Amino acid sequence: MFFYKNKKSLIPLIIILITFIAIAVIYFSPIKQLLMFLPQITKERVGTFTNLQPEDQKGAIYVGSSNCKECHQEIYDIQSASMHTKMIQDVKKDPSVIVGDFNILPEDADFELINIVYTIGSKFKQRYMLRKDRDGKENYRIGNYQWNSENSSWQSYSVFKDWYHDAWPEDNNQIPTSHTCDGCHFTGYMGNQIRVEPGIHCENCHGPASKHVEDDVKENIYVATRHDPIRSMEVCLQCHMRNVDKRLDSLTIKDLYNRIKDYADGFEPGMSLTKYKKTMPYQPGVNDSKFYGDGVGVKNRMQGNEYVQSTMYKHGITCMNCHDPHSLDNTAQNSRGDEFCMSCHKMGSPLGPHQSSLVAHTKHELNSTGSSCIECHMPKTGKHTGKSPYTVRTHVFRFIYPKESMEYGVNNACNNCHEDKSLEWSDNKLTEWGMTTWERY
Ligand code: HEC
Ligand code: HEC
Ligand code: HEC
Ligand code: HEC
Ligand code: HEC
Ligand code: HEC
Ligand code: HEC
Ligand code: HEC
Repeated sequence: MFFYKNKKSLIPLIIILITFIAIAVIYFSPIKQLLMFLPQITKERVGTFTNLQPEDQKGAIYVGSSNCKECHQEIYDIQSASMHTKMIQDVKKDPSVIVGDFNILPEDADFELINIVYTIGSKFKQRYMLRKDRDGKENYRIGNYQWNSENSSWQSYSVFKDWYHDAWPEDNNQIPTSHTCDGCHFTGYMGNQIRVEPGIHCENCHGPASKHVEDDVKENIYVATRHDPIRSMEVCLQCHMRNVDKRLDSLTIKDLYNRIKDYADGFEPGMSLTKYKKTMPYQPGVNDSKFYGDGVGVKNRMQGNEYVQSTMYKHGITCMNCHDPHSLDNTAQNSRGDEFCMSCHKMGSPLGPHQSSLVAHTKHELNSTGSSCIECHMPKTGKHTGKSPYTVRTHVFRFIYPKESMEYGVNNACNNCHEDKSLEWSDNKLTEWGMTTWERY
């Protein structure tokens, strides 16, 4: 036969066969999903101190997103449709951005519809920016009532209650947004104290782009995902993480009276965020106004504070793996569902869950809401205001045990759904199911 006569021709055939079998094995094995992410999660970790801003970008200034449109039309359109761009809206340009009902604004409100320059937010709550200059420079203050969009009512709003009680006078009128808000809501304010444009746009994540607009190469513009995955998250953490003024490392709150800041002042994407931002500490075992004693957030915009506790964070899975940074899919009450989680996870895979079937892991029927990953691993634990319903889903991802609810009062998944059952009931079920851990309970 041909093959016997030409033994050498067998070798390529064997190689092809082995390659084919290897591909088939990987394709059907639980590690297939892992391989896709290897280039990302094995990228060199450069540590938190290195400045990753491109050399050719240094010294550039902020120019605004209208300068990006002509060359990046598609991304521009997608980004413009996201909530990021709607954070601060100009009332004169479009009066319909106001969601509060001014017919029922309480009488002791210290502002009127006609004084409002910008709206802040809309989806969960809306606050109002009123012109109030400081030291001869353009500045704003916040009105003493906010609109709660979740239950359609006005609520009083005192800035000092949220922001450094001991560092500001107890009067919204004397607290400037330049120190308390603008770094996270305007483009460019974090980096250089100029309100380049209202809302969150391109340069909040890509850094100042004047040099890139002059010379359109990629060497002069920062893209977070080029580097160390842990560092890549800093573009989001600059805003999505509660913090305290970095200067408190060496000064006291009294020293900073009337000039304390609530954002990473001076930070530009790529720089080392740890040099500009000090995360709000959580005190294990102690409930305070921002954290439960088990590290779960009490309020909104604590995604960063929570996510850094997760093993996903530590393995280099980033915000961008779950959220497209331009369209911002996976938003509150609008998730991509379990299939999305299962794009990395798989029953019996090294990433878990370590049971052979979904039902074995969740102890609920296959199509039950009780088998949904997000319902159990991202239960609603936080609120936007004291009077809001629980709508903020946690980003700690680990399972929150009913025992933690007994100890700290934090919500847990089981009792969120089984409202008529006691914490003891859930705890006993978990014990019966063998779903308990040594370290905690
Ligand atoms: C004159 C056209 C032009 C303008 C204006 C422009 N860009 Fe670019 N941009 C480009 C081109 C072309 C590239 C790809 C360069 C390359 O591949 O070397 C690029 C690359 C980029 C990249 C890196 C993409 C990658 O794959 O690494 C980012 C981020 C970026 N631009 C953002 C912006 C932002 C933000 C603005 C507005 C402030 C802007 N660009 C304005 C043409 C432009
Ligand atoms: C909230 C942060 C954020 C904002 C705002 C943002 N980007 Fe990006 N952008 C990113 C991140 C992160 C990546 C890397 C995505 C990845 O690798 O998956 C990226 C990737 C890019 C890329 C290269 C990859 C691609 O998808 O083609 C370009 C070009 C770009 N952005 C331009 C822009 C422009 C122009 C704007 C404004 C209209 C903008 N970005 C707004 C965070 C942001
Ligand atoms: C400059 C501050 C800032 C940066 C940087 C930033 N965000 Fe945001 N983000 C906000 C604010 C403020 C809102 C609320 C917008 C609103 O409701 O109008 C928001 C909203 C969101 C939402 C909810 C959107 C919705 O439709 O409800 C997601 C998801 C999100 N951000 C993800 C990210 C990710 C991922 C990154 C990093 C790539 C990032 N953000 C970077 C400030 C920021
Ligand atoms: C360190 C960054 C940061 C600072 C400082 C900050 N915010 Fe925000 N804010 C965010 C982020 C991020 C979100 C969206 C994420 C979330 O709510 O979980 C947000 C959400 C909001 C929302 C809800 C948006 C909506 O659509 O419902 C309002 C209103 C708001 N902020 C007002 C303020 C006011 C007023 C100040 C100053 C007194 C302020 N913020 C200071 C980062 C910040
Ligand atoms: C493993 C996936 C995953 C990772 C990682 C992740 N998120 Fe989310 N995030 C989600 C899902 C899913 C939702 C939507 C939950 C829902 O339906 O309410 C969400 C919701 C949000 C929201 C909207 C919450 C609200 O109350 O409006 C913000 C903002 C957000 N994530 C920011 C971040 C940031 C910043 C990071 C990185 C520090 C991050 N996420 C990491 C999956 C993820
Ligand atoms: C991009 C890939 C990826 C996606 C998407 C993803 N995960 Fe993960 N997940 C991981 C990796 C990697 C780990 C770490 C596994 C380990 O430590 O063994 C992990 C770990 C976990 C853990 C254990 C966490 C802990 O801190 O103990 C839970 C729970 C989890 N993921 C839930 C989810 C949920 C829910 C979703 C969907 C909203 C999701 N994951 C989406 C990659 C992913
Ligand atoms: C009924 C609640 C429930 C649902 C639904 C649920 N989990 Fe879990 N999960 C748990 C509990 C409880 C633990 C911790 C105890 C344990 O390890 O058995 C856990 C642990 C995990 C872990 C870490 C331990 C391991 O086996 O690797 C991962 C990863 C995980 N779940 C992923 C998922 C994914 C992905 C989904 C959606 C397909 C999901 N879970 C749905 C309750 C749930
Ligand atoms: C998202 C909602 C949801 C979550 C989260 C959830 N369940 Fe369920 N559970 C259900 C539903 C719906 C049923 C009805 C039967 C089914 O679909 O399996 C059920 C049924 C049960 C049953 C059997 C019926 C009964 O009432 O005796 C037990 C026991 C149970 N759940 C315990 C738990 C425990 C313990 C947790 C936390 C680990 C939990 N559930 C989390 C929705 C949920």
